[in-house]
Order: sequence, then structure tokens, then C-alpha cells
Amino acid sequence: MTQFTLNGKPTQLDTEADMPLLWAIRDLLGMTGTKYGCGQGLCGACTVHIDGVAVRSCMMPMGAVEGKNITTIEGLGADKLHPVQQAWIDNNVPQCGYCQPGQIMSASALLAQNPSPTDTDIDNAMAGNLCRCGTYVRIRKAIHDAADIMQNNKTATTVQYQDNLGS
Ligand code: FES
Ligand code: FES
Repeated sequence: MTQFTLNGKPTQLDTEADMPLLWAIRDLLGMTGTKYGCGQGLCGACTVHIDGVAVRSCMMPMGAVEGKNITTIEGLGADKLHPVQQAWIDNNVPQCGYCQPGQIMSASALLAQNPSPTDTDIDNAMAGNLCRCGTYVRIRKAIHDAADIMQNNKTATTVQYQDNLGS
């Protein structure tokens, strides 16, 4: 039995220890937002967050996720759109859409660690996420826009806090 937190909820599954996390998420838990592409860690379609880090779930055995905090695309904007999701909409990033959950999970993990990435930072962080439709230019623009949204949200929160202190 493996116990972990999935999108904020305590979860437990009885699987073989070598079952890939991607299989468990899609086939046992019914969360199909995380996509199967190559199954070999090469395309990024299956990217999820484990303890805040972007991980290829097709290469992560269930035996290694005991006690971990896992977030899938279904949990990223559970309460309201994540800034990356908003920027993706604003920039009409997806074409066929298949790679996009993985792209968004990698982008959001990048921004959590680096709130103001350069083009090079973005290209390095996103290099493992392939897009057969070639949406790379829009992805890069959307990541910069998401960084701006996050910065503005932070500034707005600080102003609100200072207003509250002054009132
Ligand atoms: S399906 Fe996991 S990296 Fe391609
Ligand atoms: S949008 Fe089609 S593969 Fe990326």
C-alpha cells in the first residue's frame, strides 16, 4: 500500500511497486489530464509535480512516491486559474493540446523556483517538453506573461496588506 497526497487529498493505492505513477494516475484514479506520450521520459507529456518539482510520471515508480505531495494538472488550478493557465488562455497557446498539461506543469514549477526567468532560463527548463504542433514561441511568451501576473498579484497583495494596516 502506497500512501501519498494527491492534489491536496490523502490517497492510498495498492499497486506493484514498479507500476509507473502515470498508470496509477490515469488508469486507477481516473485523472486523464496527465498524458502518455513516449513512456520513456523523453517528451514531457506526463509531467506532474512531486513536492513542487516537475517530474516525468511515466518514469516514477509507485514505490518511490510514499509520503510525497503530488500535484497533477487537475489540482493546479483547483480553486481558481493558476497564472500560468491564465497566460496560456490569454496567448491561445494550445494547438492540438496534447502536450499542454505537461507544458503547464513544467512552466508552473519553473516559476515557483524562478519568478522572473529569462528566455534562456525558459528554454532550459522547458527543453524536455516536446510539442509536435510547434507552439514553443507562444509558450515562451505565456511564461513571461505568467511571471508578470504573479508579480502583479504579489504587488496587489502587498498594497492590500498595507492598506489594511493603515485603516
Ligand atoms: S510520457 Fe513521460 S516523458 Fe513522455
Ligand atoms: S499543442 Fe499539439 S503537441 Fe503541443
